[in-house]
Amino acid sequence: MKTKLRLLLVSSLILGGCSGAKLAQKPDYHRGMHVFNVFCAPCHQNPSSDAPQLDEEGDWDLRAIQWTSIWKQHVTQGFLGMPAKAGHPELAEQDINDALYYIEIKVKSLE
Ligand code: HEC
Repeated sequence: MKTKLRLLLVSSLILGGCSGAKLAQKPDYHRGMHVFNVFCAPCHQNPSSDAPQLDEEGDWDLRAIQWTSIWKQHVTQGFLGMPAKAGHPELAEQDINDALYYIEIKVKSLE
């Protein structure tokens, strides 16, 4: 029981992000593009990095584009070669949602 409660607490902390703000706005493509260009492009638009490239459809084939909640978790917590929040703890949950929305639309448009 106690463990369950703690798990719940931890996951709501993670989901809530450090701002503690509720998700007030829908993801926005243009804000997402800005966040992406500043924080994500150094790896995701840089062929010398291991990261899947924004303009390479094949790089995303094996990644579950329909599971953007998993992406969000990976970006927020870090995943293999990717540091948590792109190495910028100041990024808000909204910034991450926007950037993921931008990636999702871009990658879908390559198909
Ligand atoms: C320091 C380099 C780096 C930065 C900065 C970075 N990423 Fe990544 N990202 C990676 C790498 C490397 C992977 C591939 C991890 C793997 O599967 O080995 C990845 C994977 C991903 C994935 C796929 C995750 C999955 O579940 O398959 C998404 C989505 C993603 N990044 C989004 C972002 C977003 C959004 C940002 C900016 C907020 C960002 N990344 C910034 C390196 C980076």
